[in-house]
Amino acid sequence: RERAVWGSARRAQTAAKRLCWAGISFILLFFIIIKGKCPEDEWDESTIELFLHELAVMDSNNFLGNCGVGEREGRVASGLVARRHYRLIHGIGRSGDISAVQPKAAGSSLLNKLTNSVVLDIIKLAGVRTVTSCFVVPMATGMSLTLCFLTLRHKRPKAKYIIWPRIDQKSCFKSMITAGFEPVVIENVLEGDELRTDIKAVEAKIKVLGAENILCVHSTTSCFAPRVPDRLEELAVICANYDIPHIVNNAYGVQSSKCMHLIQQGARVGRIDAFVQSLDKNFMVPVGGAIIAGFSESFIQEISKMYPGRASASPSLDVLITLLSLGTSGYKQLLKERKEMFSYLSSELKKLADIHNERLLDTPHNPISLAMSLKNLDENNDAAVTQLGSMLFTRQVSGARVVPCGSVQTVNNYTFEGFMSHTNDYPCAYLNAASAIGIKKQDVDIFLKRLDKCLKTFRKEVKKEETKMQIL
Ligand SMILES: *Cc1c(COP(=O)(O)O)cnc(C)c1O
Ligand SMILES: *[C@@H]1O[C@H](CO)[C@@H](O)[C@H](O)[C@H]1NC(C)=O
Repeated sequence: RERAVWGSARRAQTAAKRLCWAGISFILLFFIIIKGKCPEDEWDESTIELFLHELAVMDSNNFLGNCGVGEREGRVASGLVARRHYRLIHGIGRSGDISAVQPKAAGSSLLNKLTNSVVLDIIKLAGVRTVTSCFVVPMATGMSLTLCFLTLRHKRPKAKYIIWPRIDQKSCFKSMITAGFEPVVIENVLEGDELRTDIKAVEAKIKVLGAENILCVHSTTSCFAPRVPDRLEELAVICANYDIPHIVNNAYGVQSSKCMHLIQQGARVGRIDAFVQSLDKNFMVPVGGAIIAGFSESFIQEISKMYPGRASASPSLDVLITLLSLGTSGYKQLLKERKEMFSYLSSELKKLADIHNERLLDTPHNPISLAMSLKNLDENNDAAVTQLGSMLFTRQVSGARVVPCGSVQTVNNYTFEGFMSHTNDYPCAYLNAASAIGIKKQDVDIFLKRLDKCLKTFRKEVKKEETKMQIL
């Protein structure tokens, strides 16, 4: 009899606990689900932790008295690992669809839906107001583009080619190769210092190849100067006229209102099927995720259905935590600071360039990346440009990218002349610097100081560097 009493007491306690959790969950979830939006003000860390805990207790692996006899039961051997994931172990999606609800894991599924909804809100806020659908994928940008191409493959069985205005980033190129298509490289045209989309060449190529043989046009917004974002409006109009899908690589474009505006305009006047952006480059989270977004809910759903199996919830969790802890006001503030730092970097780099008898290249269409010529340095000393690169690197300047003239590189059996510079023969060597989200004035100041030092002492330093390199 005593055992029976204890048993029913324990059951009552468990039920009470569940009700209590459910009550709190309900309040918190209500708060966001009603809006399905990113809160304006940031949440503090303990609120976010409580919220994640509420979600976790809705997953079956965390039920009291759960017994699992399946092959995937969310068992985790290490407590450290369990805590690293806030006990959300089941991942997202079901075997048939990465966006589907998993009944074993109501909490994780809710997390997934909520993340996608909050992220959609941020994309709208960042400038693509008419976006209708998006989802987070636990793959970086290149693989996410591949997934888009593979989805289109079923709709266009005859297609073999992808029209691609050149951008010298290997993952862009490989995303098409991996999907099994043949990239048709459209060389950029030089307008002043800028490298811009050759719209006429795109249209001519479509006529030569035949629209039905083309899978899609694959354009790019964010890129290194002196290349500038593609002429999205014109490309989108061509795609609409020839009935060719259009996939946009918006890798780090969410942080720039200009890139987002281009996408919005492209979709308004022409055709954009999907645009893909990196999580780490836009939201200050670890590498590992991307967002696939678009204007047709059914097409975005088709892409999410192409993903085989379940997926890691980590990228979704990271971006949700980040957005809740920033709020829209915090994110907007980061965007504003980035823009201010871009102007600052631009004016200071121009001053530095003038002092060293070089030029800040005139690339007004690129809102994130800048380029400073290294013409004189290059002409006085052949090896100087690459040496400057290594000097900056050893002085802990990361991300400044030195581009010499005429480097040749083969990617997947395709040879690019002038690789890194987005064109076969750019008129001069140059150095890139970017103002990306999270950058601080201190980053800019220290970079300029070190660059100045390198350039000043360059002639003296070259010999020392050479011997140092030889010793190394
Ligand atoms: C970063 C980047 C990529 C590749 O991104 P991953 O996330 O590494 O796949 C592709 N294109 C552009 C323009 C990029 O900046
Ligand atoms: C690369 O191209 C060469 C010559 O066209 C060819 O022989 C080789 O098989 C190709 N390699 C791959 C991996 O496609």
